Order: sequence, then C-alpha cells, then structure tokens
Amino acid sequence: MVIQWYPGHMAKAKREVAEQLKKVDVVFELVDARIPYSSRNPVIDEVIQQKPRVVILNKKDMSNLKELEKWETYFKAQGYFPVAIDAKHGKGLKQVEQAATKATEEKFAKEKAKGLKPRAIRAMIVGIPNVGKSTLINKLSKQSIAKTGNTPGVTKQQQWIKVGKSLQLLDTPGILWPKFEDQTIGKKLSITGAIKDSIVHLDEVAIYGLDFLKAHDIEGLKQHFDVDLSDEDENLDWFEAIGRRRGMLQKGNEVDYEAVIDAIIYDVRNAKVGTYTFDLYDEMDV
Ligand code: G4P
Repeated sequence: MVIQWYPGHMAKAKREVAEQLKKVDVVFELVDARIPYSSRNPVIDEVIQQKPRVVILNKKDMSNLKELEKWETYFKAQGYFPVAIDAKHGKGLKQVEQAATKATEEKFAKEKAKGLKPRAIRAMIVGIPNVGKSTLINKLSKQSIAKTGNTPGVTKQQQWIKVGKSLQLLDTPGILWPKFEDQTIGKKLSITGAIKDSIVHLDEVAIYGLDFLKAHDIEGLKQHFDVDLSDEDENLDWFEAIGRRRGMLQKGNEVDYEAVIDAIIYDVRNAKVGTYTFDLYDEMDV
C-alpha cells in the first residue's frame, strides 16, 4: 500500500489512533527487527503516552539475532515489554500474549482490588506501513477459535479478535507515518522495503546496501554475487562485476546499471544475501 503523508493526513492519523487507544489496555508497537529504531513513528511516544506497551520486533527471521538482543534490552530499559517474532511463519505468537499479560499485570491487579470482574486484555497494533501489521493480525486471528463479534462502543467495521484465553485484539491496526527527515533512515526504510515508492534515489539505496555489506559481511557479499572484489574496490567496480556476472548487459555490451541496482536492492531487501540488522545499536545515538 502506498500512502502519501501530508501534514493534514498525519494529524488525522494521529487523532484516529489516539481515539482507538482509549479502547485498549495495551498497545502493540510493531517495528521491523532489521531497523528497530528507524522503523518507529517519529511521534510514537506522544501518541501512546503512558499506556502499557509491548514492542514487537517483527521479521526476526530476516534480522541479526545478536543485534536483536541489544534492542530488546534497550526497549526493556525504556519500560516496555519487547518480544521478537516472525509473524509470516507464525513464530513467537505465544510470547506476544505473555508479554501483553505482563504489561497489564499492574492495571488488572488494581481492577481486581477494586472488586472488578476479571476480563480479557484488550490490545491494538500500531506501526508504520509494511512492518507486518496485517500479517500478524491474520496469524493471530487464524489461531483464535472465533471472532468475538461487535462489542458495544466499537464502530461497525471494527471487531475484536479473540486471541488465546486472555486477549482480545482490535482487527484494524493503527497506521502511522515513518521518519522522513533523515537521509540514512530513508535508505534503511527503503532497503528493508518499508518504503517502496522512492523518496530516496534507488542508486543511493543500492550503494547504501553495498557499503553496509562491504563493511559487515564482505565474504557473504562476494559469495552471493559470485564476484571477487575487495572492500577497497569502488562501488562502480562492484556494479560492473555484478552486472557482468549476471549477464545484465545492454547494447554495446555495456552493463545495465539500473538492473544491477534493482538486483542489489531486491536481494538485500528479501534477505537473499544474509540476515542483517541495519540499525546497529552501538553505533546509534539512542
Ligand atoms: P503492514 O500491514 O504493516 O503494512 O504489513 P504487511 O502485513 O502487509 O507485511 C508487509 C510485508 O512483510 C509482506 O510481504 C509480509 O509477508 C512481510 N512480512 C510480515 N511479517 C514478516 C515476518 O515476520 N517475516 C518475513 N520474512 N516477512 C514478513 P510482501 O512481500 O509485501 O507480501 P507477501 O508476498 O509476503 O504476501
């Protein structure tokens, strides 16, 4: 889905999510495990405020697990309840339920002390486009026995999905905008597929990918594209070698650079070269 974000749209999205948040006990903030910082909405704290929060690092299968641990520790230190999952293959769903229970323990203990009856935890998913919100909702709803149907006070289109014994999830996620203000973040969003339409030039995205691999996995890079270059070689030489190796040639036996750019982006984006986390915790100012 391509969404154009203008200030008016942003204000509306923020307002709508804030409205939905009133109905839930806990928020599932979904981020991409490959860019746990760059895939967050820039004003997420303003939107969620003090509501208990489970930070779900999705697409774990495509990320670097050592980096993931560092980010989980970071989110814990912020007072959130992080869990790393792979929604596409349905891995980690139980942990989401467990984290929701932990995140709301205090609230429910207070309700109990006041003599209120036990009830299901209500949750909603919030995140920028393409982090896997629909995938997660589908997986969670498939494992549930039935949708719980309309609940008074919920708009007609929205339903609560029953997840396990103790959780109800709003079937419509809150969609917020990504960070636009920083070029590097833009390239990270693009190389992971969070932004499919180009707000950054594709050649710059491919170069970003190439530079990252040269610095962090040169052997994997050489092996994947079957080229014998070093990190000392210029990006243009890499483009040239990859293009020739893959037979991406045009008239006059020239390398088709656009095809090479697309191939590099596609392979990195879809974890064909390897599984990487581009937001390196130790190198980031968080
Ligand atoms: P959204 O609602 O937040 O916008 O995201 P959506 O669920 O549509 O997911 C965006 C893309 O990310 C989809 O791929 C989806 O399959 C993929 N995805 C979601 N969760 C995971 C995960 O944990 N691991 C991996 N590897 N991929 C995940 P797509 O290419 O757009 O569609 P499809 O061809 O996979 O269906």
